Amino acid sequence: MTAISKSDDLTNCSLDECLSAMSSEVENNNTPLSSPSEDELIKLEEDYQKLLADSQSLINERSYLETEIRALKKRATRLDDEVRLLKTPPLIIGHLQDILDERTAIVRSSNGTVFQVSLNQRLEPERLKPGTRVALNQDTLAVIEVLHEAWDPMVSGAEMVEKPDITYDSVAGLDEQITSVREAIELPLLEPELFSKVGITPPKGILLVGPPGCGKTLLAKAVANQTDATFIRLVGSELAQKYIGEGGRMVRELFSLAKEKSPAIIFLDEIDAIGAKRLDGSTSGDREVQRTLMQLLAELDGFDSLEDVKIIAATNRPDILDDALLRPGRFDRIVTIPLPDETGRKAILSLHISNMSTSRINLKTIVEKTEGYSGAELKATCVEAGMIAIRDKRDKISQKDLIQAIDRIQTKKSNSGSKSSPDALYG
Ligand SMILES: Nc1ncnc2c1ncn2[C@@H]1O[C@H](COP(=O)(O)OP(=O)(O)OP(=O)(O)O)[C@@H](O)[C@H]1O
Ligand SMILES: [Mg+2]
Repeated sequence: MTAISKSDDLTNCSLDECLSAMSSEVENNNTPLSSPSEDELIKLEEDYQKLLADSQSLINERSYLETEIRALKKRATRLDDEVRLLKTPPLIIGHLQDILDERTAIVRSSNGTVFQVSLNQRLEPERLKPGTRVALNQDTLAVIEVLHEAWDPMVSGAEMVEKPDITYDSVAGLDEQITSVREAIELPLLEPELFSKVGITPPKGILLVGPPGCGKTLLAKAVANQTDATFIRLVGSELAQKYIGEGGRMVRELFSLAKEKSPAIIFLDEIDAIGAKRLDGSTSGDREVQRTLMQLLAELDGFDSLEDVKIIAATNRPDILDDALLRPGRFDRIVTIPLPDETGRKAILSLHISNMSTSRINLKTIVEKTEGYSGAELKATCVEAGMIAIRDKRDKISQKDLIQAIDRIQTKKSNSGSKSSPDALYG
């Protein structure tokens, strides 16, 4: 309103006056205008800074999202690959029979039909040998891959990965036998040159024989603990199979596993399960067991040398073993582990008693009273004495407990009819 009234005044003045009046008016107007614009500038500056920060955070967010997209894309490709892999048709397993030239081979598929097929050119020619297990394309039966030798899960599971915690010190009173075993098994594996110098072939294996519970399995466990070689243990009965040819195949695979993992020691416990004398009038089951034994005999002195493979077998019935198994060249050393004599019993008893808390004990009387006891029975005596002490709420076993335990084991021994049996240990 003031500006209008002032401009109304200007109508009455000259041009110069007017101009000067107007400029002064502008100047006058400028002064009040300049202060809000500074505020605005500050505000604008602030806005600008805010926008700058916003844009920076958006840029950050964008690069973060971009990395995420890249990671997700990678994952998607991986999952795609996985899906593709899962969708690929299965390959047929077969065996190579003959290699005709570098492009073609004859294979026998798993159902027994024989085909001439082409070979994957990327396979190394030296791996392609007759008898190799291969994977074949479903449509063309072309050889896609060479597979490693397959072992029965029972055979591959027989390899001992964890060592037992039994050392030679845990085997009492069998020093001579331990030396024999070490000479025949460990020495040829550790220092084969000793044998070549003398000019003899080292023993292939040993057979541990002796009454039940005298430490045969225990000794083998100690060997397993001591050796750095692969230790493969199998019980004879595991090789007695239901179907024709199965037992023989398992024996073959057992030796092939041992050769591949050599140096190796094979321990066949209770070998009488497959090594019993072959008789004429036998059932079909017996004949399959005999075939398994024949395969074992063939492996023991087969064409392939068993240089780095040693065999330990154990049985408590050497009398029923087949003669072929016992002849030299198979088990070159037969180590007898007899019932412990007086010194043996003393050693076994002190070994087991050393782990128990005892009051004063006269070991000599105990040794005299346990004539004819096996190692397992001596251990059972110590456990029984411990049970008696626990029943009486004592934490130490005494001489009386041991005598009472011997009486108990003795009654069980005579009740069970045989000299010793698992009944002697329990109830
Ligand atoms: N010489 C020994 N020293 C220490 N303990 C022994 C000895 N002999 C036997 N034992 C004890 O008896 C148990 C059974 O022994 P082991 O399994 O070696 O018998 P085995 O000779 O293999 O009998 P089987 O012929 O019945 O298989 C062992 O776990 C061990 O506690
Ligand atoms: Mg045994």
